[in-house]
Amino acid sequence: MTDLVVRRLLIDLEKPFARHWCGGDAFRTAFFNALSMSFPIGEQFFIDSVRNGYKALPAAEQPKYKAEVQGFVGQEATHRRIHSLFNAHLEQQGLVNAWGPRAQRRLKLMEGVHPLHWLAITAANEHFTAIFAEWMLKNSDLLDDAEPRLKTMWLWHSAEESEHKSTAFDLYQALGGNHEWRIRWFRRITFIFLGDTLRQTINNLRRDGTLWRWGTWKSGIGYLFGRRGLLRDSCGPWRDYLRRDFHPSQQESDLSRRWLADNASAYTAVGA
Ligand SMILES: [Fe+2]
Ligand SMILES: [Fe+2]
Repeated sequence: MTDLVVRRLLIDLEKPFARHWCGGDAFRTAFFNALSMSFPIGEQFFIDSVRNGYKALPAAEQPKYKAEVQGFVGQEATHRRIHSLFNAHLEQQGLVNAWGPRAQRRLKLMEGVHPLHWLAITAANEHFTAIFAEWMLKNSDLLDDAEPRLKTMWLWHSAEESEHKSTAFDLYQALGGNHEWRIRWFRRITFIFLGDTLRQTINNLRRDGTLWRWGTWKSGIGYLFGRRGLLRDSCGPWRDYLRRDFHPSQQESDLSRRWLADNASAYTAVGA
């Protein structure tokens, strides 16, 4: 069990930010913006999955998970709030979030489905998030040219994703979730997540008027497939999830703890 601290981030998101806030780079900005657009709907689904999974546990099992579930819900609720503020600026900039409404329509199909399936979907998404979070913390210098408060926002979110990456997975196991369904949902989520990220990034670039610029594609290829490329680096950790004996804690590092310790002035602990 992890002690999950809920933190209030001390950044001002009232002030607008530049259109290409990520180092003047159209691709990277559009990519991060796309991910952020999925968070308010996605993270609400994760919260509901974990809450419902917890309630489905036998009463005697619940105390063991209580604090972690509360911490998870608190962290994801804070992420939703901050990213909603961020997304409101994107809307002002003329970007259109097609991912959120599409995800909402898809999630409607999950109504009445057993909590184990919700948890398998959440655990799969949380694995993606954890891989990306770890990569961001490892390559935090790639955000050095970004607007400082937004760099802080992305790294804080990454640090917390890394902290709570086992919660949905553990509940899935505790409820007796099997390997086959865990993998089946993981494969589906891989297609859905990558497809949605690509579609929304392209949508953002088109509205930004930078889709057909050579520099955009050059940056995208380098960022995803280059020497330290995100997709290139993520294949191994992605594949690990398929192992029968996989557990998220096997991909532990101290990057999250270190960032939180080095940036303690960027947040306050809620309820501390
Ligand atoms: Fe989150
Ligand atoms: Fe999460």
